[in-house]
Amino acid sequence: MSTAVTAPQNRAFSAPALELDDVTLVYPDGASTITAVDHASLTIARGEFVGLTGPSGSGKSSLLALASALQKPSSGRVVVDGVDLSTLRTKRLLEVRREKIGIIFQQPQLINSLTAREQLLITDAVRGAKGRSAKEAAARKAADLLDRVGLSAQMDRRPAELSGGQRQRVNIARALMGEPSVLLVDEPTSALDQERSAAVVALLDEVTREFRTGTLMVTHETETLGAADRVMEMRDGVLRGPITLG
Ligand SMILES: Nc1ncnc2c1ncn2[C@@H]1O[C@H](COP(=O)(O)OP(=O)(O)O)[C@@H](O)[C@H]1O
Ligand SMILES: [Mg+2]
Repeated sequence: MSTAVTAPQNRAFSAPALELDDVTLVYPDGASTITAVDHASLTIARGEFVGLTGPSGSGKSSLLALASALQKPSSGRVVVDGVDLSTLRTKRLLEVRREKIGIIFQQPQLINSLTAREQLLITDAVRGAKGRSAKEAAARKAADLLDRVGLSAQMDRRPAELSGGQRQRVNIARALMGEPSVLLVDEPTSALDQERSAAVVALLDEVTREFRTGTLMVTHETETLGAADRVMEMRDGVLRGPITLG
């Protein structure tokens, strides 16, 4: 007999991965201000892959900065796994970011001196692992993830010995180490050719389903967005959509 767990006591069970609720982000700009994100709302379920496109300077990266708690909204709420980030103290906010949010940037921020496997083992998710069995579990997880992204033969290579596409795959595997609910991806393919771009986006789509992340991927390469469940567009800080790609 299982004990019934009702929704209110276990919000994370049914909560969307990510909710942006009427968020605005205003940057100071000399004597004036720039509204980078203008009252945007967006809800992403676990296992859902959402594309975000729009011209340069339209606020896409700023929206990701809000979703990843790198920036605090000037107004509105960011809710991750049912937790309203505005209610958290800094320490807890950093924990939520570490435990629930995976971030993948355009240029993989890899450390030159470390192998692919080591890049995964220095993540915050692993740093907390104490004791031999926890360390072994982390090592197994790193190997499994690198295998999953197609790098089983490259685990002991350093970034300089990997192609651009392979580096981005390390980046994806690393973001998954913490088993995030939310995956935020900013222009992951802009340094790659078309074929490699398509393969990286296909991989992101697959891991979204497998790991049930709510994934938000920014790209101006709309031809890569065929796999997305929805595509949203930003213009001058205003989010609209879903749009249909022509
Ligand atoms: N840290 C910042 N300080 C001030 N203005 C910024 C900052 N980051 C971005 N902006 C401005 O906010 C607007 C949106 O930028 P951004 O979110 O980077 O757009 P995108 O990612 O769509 O190219 C732009 O006008 C940009 O100049
Ligand atoms: Mg950007």
